[in-house]
Amino acid sequence: MQISEKQLCILRSEIARFVSGKRLEHTLSVEKEAVKLGLLLGIPENKIPKLAAAGLLHDITKGLTVAQQLSLAEKYGIRLSDDDIKNPKVLHSLTGAYAALENFPDFTDSEVFSSIQCHTTGKPRMTLFQKILYLADYIEPLRDFPDCIRLREYFYSTGKTDASHLDKTLILSFDMTVRNLLDEKQFIHKKTVAARNYILNQLLRTT
Ligand SMILES: [Fe+2]
Ligand SMILES: [Fe+2]
Repeated sequence: MQISEKQLCILRSEIARFVSGKRLEHTLSVEKEAVKLGLLLGIPENKIPKLAAAGLLHDITKGLTVAQQLSLAEKYGIRLSDDDIKNPKVLHSLTGAYAALENFPDFTDSEVFSSIQCHTTGKPRMTLFQKILYLADYIEPLRDFPDCIRLREYFYSTGKTDASHLDKTLILSFDMTVRNLLDEKQFIHKKTVAARNYILNQLLRTT
């Protein structure tokens, strides 16, 4: 799938039908961060516009209520797990992938689709493309939560751009997510734990 700059311009204006205000600013910032990370981390140049598209589309359904998310999940035939239901913040990544495919099929191949699907929880065996969207969403420069600032500083402070540094950054992000959920006495999604343990295992094997 090849996406031109002209197509991305159209997508940028079209996406404003789905997200607005601060969320639109965040969306445009994730697009830029995903492209920046893609270039730093060695995504092939012809796939960079796809990363931009994934950034633009990733929160396409985030403005919907939980009830709307659930009816959208039903419409798309998404089988929600117990963990999905107990973590309503996750729903927009599941419905978002299908909404992106329905509304913007020219931008949503399987790689874009799956990266939107796992951008909130992560999952085991994440591809570089999926990891980049996940991280871009966490550290885009408009995010000013202390954890986001800490993660951004951790990733950029060393100047390292190898796969192992990316994985260590992701582990830190999962740790912070889990810690926050514990502090808030919230459910922890199994996929986040599985994503963390998978990467940790990979790191231990290679170091
Ligand atoms: Fe999101
Ligand atoms: Fe986001």
